Amino acid sequence: MHGTDLKERRAEAIAGAMDDIRRIESSKGVTREGVEAIRDRLIELSTHREFFTFDEFPLPEDDGSGRRRGVLFRISQDPDDRFALYMNSSDGELSTPAHNHTTWAVVVGLEGQELNRFYERTAEGRVEAVGEHMVENGTGVAMLPDDLHSIHLDTRSLNFHCYGLALERLAEREYYDAEADDWKIFPAGGNIIEGRLDEELC
Ligand SMILES: [Fe+2]
Repeated sequence: MHGTDLKERRAEAIAGAMDDIRRIESSKGVTREGVEAIRDRLIELSTHREFFTFDEFPLPEDDGSGRRRGVLFRISQDPDDRFALYMNSSDGELSTPAHNHTTWAVVVGLEGQELNRFYERTAEGRVEAVGEHMVENGTGVAMLPDDLHSIHLDTRSLNFHCYGLALERLAEREYYDAEADDWKIFPAGGNIIEGRLDEELC
């Protein structure tokens, strides 16, 4: 398949999925049923394996620190910054503390494995692990704005990360700092590369 054709066909498939996801949120609201339906629609998108490969979404070069960083490619986002879809391409050496998102969030696997652990807040204001799910191709997890999770990658992996609002707009995401025994705020944004076609940008 010619490279340009692939990019255009991928953009079409992504646009179709995001149209459906807007409709799902509008009809089911930000509910458990709604976010699980969004997860299922992204699992359907993930069956187009030829669109979502490490060749298309490569890891960044070694940054000189001795290890490569993970990176997010923004592959869809509305003009008002809602419905943001990213490809998370990671070398696998990544672990996060327990955190919320302040908007709904969905993770769906393409390559490799991303362990998701889930937590509840304890009466003492700490976190207690209540379950986990290994995200890999054909599976995913769906979270409401207050749900807490952490992610753990040991192997090279490629995943969809989709949020109700773009990461650069999420300035109130809390995480539990176990060492400090305290809740802190993640800075908005992240290591994001523009992954959309020129004509999709406005
Ligand atoms: Fe997260």
